[in-house]
Amino acid sequence: MAAGPPSRLIHSYGRRRGRRLRQSRVKLLGERLPQLAIDVPLEAVTIDPAALFERAPQAIWLEIGFGAGEHLAAQAAAHPDIGFIGCEPYVNGVAALLAALDAAPPGAGGDNVRLWMGDARELLPYLPAASIARVFVLYPDPWPKERHHKRRLVSRAFLDMLARVMVPGAELRLATDDPGYLAWMLDCLAGHADFAWLAHSPEVRRTRPVDWPATRYEQKAVAAGRQPAYLSLCRRSGTTGGGP
Ligand SMILES: C[S@@+](CC[C@H](N)C(=O)[O-])C[C@H]1O[C@@H](n2cnc3c(N)ncnc32)[C@H](O)[C@@H]1O
Repeated sequence: MAAGPPSRLIHSYGRRRGRRLRQSRVKLLGERLPQLAIDVPLEAVTIDPAALFERAPQAIWLEIGFGAGEHLAAQAAAHPDIGFIGCEPYVNGVAALLAALDAAPPGAGGDNVRLWMGDARELLPYLPAASIARVFVLYPDPWPKERHHKRRLVSRAFLDMLARVMVPGAELRLATDDPGYLAWMLDCLAGHADFAWLAHSPEVRRTRPVDWPATRYEQKAVAAGRQPAYLSLCRRSGTTGGGP
């Protein structure tokens, strides 16, 4: 299926292409991406995420907007028994992740990674309920201008979509370096019936957990003097998902 937002989705990302790619990355996009890309057959109502992997994974984790893929590559190498789904519409980012996987030592080269080069909100409806054991949404585009707030990926509707696919007890990790987006995220999460805080205090929010590798965007934010916020929530059990 062609990846691209259906007309009802407002773009939550900026550009899909950046600088001209070097030849080695063009080659990876041509040869490696087809091996890892998730295909949703036109007639499909749902896909079995475990069946995407040659070796049945213990669980499936999902990263939405992986950028250049540092976090995804590091998590995939650290957790070879987990199957990772990465969603990213930015072609240069996908090529960067493929290069990182290609350069990884044997066994950490992406056998446990599958990719959706498009809007995650297009894939989510095809994932079965309670099929994802962890979700990462790290530094989604902040869209700071008020007239662009409608482009922000995190919303009650987006949290509803995540809640449906998440296993009870699954962790949701969010990060932002934008104080306005942090307040927006906290507002979206406030009172959401499907999510509970795992740890929640200003002090905890400022400290990156050890099993949470830094992303490129985060490194730039810290170098520029901005303070990241790390949010960890748990998918409650006993709610049906899909909102309060
Ligand atoms: C500010 S960048 C951060 C990238 C990376 N997470 C990092 O921290 O370095 C946000 C990324 O989210 C991606 N993105 C935005 N909306 C998305 C969506 N609906 N589905 C998947 N990715 C999305 C963008 O293309 C962009 O690469």
